[in-house]
This record gives sequence, C-alpha cells and structure tokens, in this order.
Amino acid sequence: MECWHIRGGRRLNGACFVQGSKNASLPILAASLVCPAETELENVPRLRDVDAALRILRHLGCKAEQRGTRVYIDSRVLDGSEIPHELMEEMRSSVIFMGALIARCGQARLSLPGGCQLGKRPIDQHLAALRQMGARIEEDRGEICCRPSALRGEEIRLPFPSVGATENIMLAACTAGGRTVIRGAAKEPEIAALQDYLRAMGAEVAGAGTDTVVVDGFHPQSRVGFRIRPDRIVAATLACAAAAAGGDVELRGIDPGQFSTVLDFLNRAGCDIITSDRSVRLRSDGRLKAVGEVVTAPYPGFPTDAQPVLMAALLRARGRTAITETIFENRFRQVPELCRLGADVTVSGRTAEIWGVERLKGAALTATDLRGGAAMIVAGLSAEGETLLFDEGHITRGYERFDARLRALGADVVLEY
Ligand code: EPZ
Repeated sequence: MECWHIRGGRRLNGACFVQGSKNASLPILAASLVCPAETELENVPRLRDVDAALRILRHLGCKAEQRGTRVYIDSRVLDGSEIPHELMEEMRSSVIFMGALIARCGQARLSLPGGCQLGKRPIDQHLAALRQMGARIEEDRGEICCRPSALRGEEIRLPFPSVGATENIMLAACTAGGRTVIRGAAKEPEIAALQDYLRAMGAEVAGAGTDTVVVDGFHPQSRVGFRIRPDRIVAATLACAAAAAGGDVELRGIDPGQFSTVLDFLNRAGCDIITSDRSVRLRSDGRLKAVGEVVTAPYPGFPTDAQPVLMAALLRARGRTAITETIFENRFRQVPELCRLGADVTVSGRTAEIWGVERLKGAALTATDLRGGAAMIVAGLSAEGETLLFDEGHITRGYERFDARLRALGADVVLEY
C-alpha cells in the first residue's frame, strides 16, 4: 500500500512539461505486433499500465523494453497468441491486444477483462464488430477464444462511440482483406494518435477524429519510429490542481484544444487562462466560482476522465455545480472520500451536486480508482493541514512521478512506497 502525504495551503507556481499519453501509448504498444517490425517509441510515460503492456508483449515472445521514456519493441519474434488471465487481469484495457493478435495471427485467446471500479465495462461492441469481420470468437468460462479466422473488410456501425472498440477494429482491419469502414467511431485524440502510428507502420488509415474511420490496406514497414503526444487528462489534472490551490502554472508541450472543455469550465470558475498552440498558462487566486451544469460526453464533449479532478477543484467554489456522468455507471466513487475532507457533495443517480464550502480540512483517505485518486490529491492541495491518501497503486497506473511533478510546482506532496 502506497501513501501520499499532501499538505495543503501552498500555491502552485512554475512551468512543467506534460507526460506522454497513457491512453495513446497502450493501443500503440498493442499495435506494434500487427506486423513483424521493430518499433522505437519516444515520450512513453513510465507507468504501471505501460509495464503491464510490455509484460504482455514479452509473454507473446516479442522483445519489449523501456529505458526512461523510450520503448523498443521487436515483434518480428512474436511466437504466441494467448494472454494468460494473470496478465490480462493487471489491466483491463489489455483487451486491445485482441484486435492486434487477430490481425497478426488470425487467432487469439485471452481472458475476458473484468469489470472495474467504474462499472461493468462490457466489450460486446468489440466482439460484434470482429465477428462481423469474420472472426470466429467463442466466449467460454471467462475466456475469449478466436479460432483461426480470415478477416474481411466490412462496414461496421458502432451504436456508441467506444474508444476501445474503435481501436480494436482499426487494428484488426489492418490485415483484413478489403476496405473496413467504421461508422460512429470514437473521435478522441488517442484515435488519431493510433492512426498516425498505423500509417507509420504502412497502413492506409484515414478519418480518425471524425465519426468515420476507413482502413484500406497495409504495406508493412519493418522499422517504425514514433513519438507519443502529451497526456490531455494529466494536463487537465494539473490545471485543476493549480485552479484549486491557487497560483500561476504553465503547462508546456500540450495542445490546449485537446482539453478545451476543461479549460472552458476553469475559465468560467474564475481562472485566467492564456493559451498558445503548445502551452497553457493558468492563474488562479484559489477562490473559484461554481460553474453550474457539467455533463460528460464522448469527445469533443467534456471528458469523463477529467470529471473527478474538476469536481475536486470545485469543492470550495462559491455556489452550486452539478456534474452528470453519462459514460460510466459508477464513476462517483471518489465522492465519499472527498466528503471526509468536509466537502458538500451529494449523488443522485448519474448526477453529483456540489455546494462550495469555505474550508476543507486534511483527512485520511483511500484512493478508489485512477482518476478518483488523482482527484483526492487535487482536493488535498486545497485543504488545510495534511491529507494522507492510502493507495494500492491506482494513481501510478496513469500519473508518472506525479509527486515530484507537483513538488516542482511548489506543492508539499510526498509519495511513500
Ligand atoms: C477508454 O476506455 C479509456 N481507456 C478510458 O480511460 C476512458 O474513460 C474511456 O475510453 C472513455 O473516454 C483507455 O484508453 C485505456 P469506451 P474504454 O469503450 O475504451 C461502454 C482512464 O482513466 N461500452 O469508450 O474502455 C463502456 O461500458 C480510463 O484513463 C460498452 O457498453 O472506453 C462505457 O460505459 C478510464 N460496450 C462506455 O461504453 C463495449 O463494447 C465507454 O467505453 C465497449 C464499451
């Protein structure tokens, strides 16, 4: 059990670069095995989830190692298509390896990803699309087994713009015979990042960022170099931390357009925000105004992953904020913990209502999940006294050296392993 020691009351000042994107890195790590190639990635964040993905690649016979933020993968030596339960269990988004393995090997065996703290997390859309493309998939005692199949290009219509389903179909379509068209595709920036990587691998992919992605063919390259773009959710988290604690922070290397909905609410809350094409500067006096209604939605709507950290930033904001979570059925688990700090948050169905309080006081908390844990750090920064946050490793799944990054901005945060 890790313990974050957070002493509030300190303003955040200074500039920092934002780590590489976890949610862009994971599908690209899976994509590296779609064809036999050497891949060199830059700006890959040092995270537990990345470690888990590299372990899966090594289990499948690939060479896969990370040195600092550089990752080298050699998938020419892939010699397996089965991922054991214990590796799948480490990270539920490992389901992204299914599309890549079927593209490369024509078959795959992996365990059904369980639900998680956020809800059931079904993969029915993934399976329906792959079956439509000809994958002979059976579900048997918690396992997904795709028997040898020759995939064909299809026109897939997604009922919901699932990020993972869009990614899995893109990967499977790389080696399918003929054109695949994904209608109702997710538009998150991570889809465009995956498209850029697949193009570097020799795939003909277009449309990422719109609701229609087309995969037309594949002329595999044997060496691929690629740089992971910054993490928009980590950027949003840092912006919320500065807004809550007060101060003057500049985030460098990040495209503000990728988290503009978050910045719009922080501006409405009273922060001064200056943006350029690759940076965001945020100034706050730490006394924010409530922002009324916030509703999470698929990109380009307000990102569900930023919902907990925006909530944390608004706990002392004067007035009422109501946040409605439309993506996951159980993404308010951070609320009872935030209330231990003295916050006034009540949940009714899919909506959390926040009434700003004058003061928050440090307390002992337990991290419930990745973004909920980050929200508790944000709240602790604006609380009086010390907050002890007990964490079984949720936060380090997605935030690289977050304690050091916050200390560099003037926060009093220490992570005790
Ligand atoms: C990705 O998860 C992200 N994870 C999540 O970030 C993010 O919250 C989510 O997209 C939404 O933006 C990674 O990229 C590794 P979805 P994913 O498929 O792909 C339902 C974080 O904090 N659904 O778009 O699993 C599903 O239950 C994580 O970094 C089906 O019903 O998200 C959920 O309610 C958390 N059937 C909704 O769609 C399916 O077949 C969104 O899921 C697939 C999804």
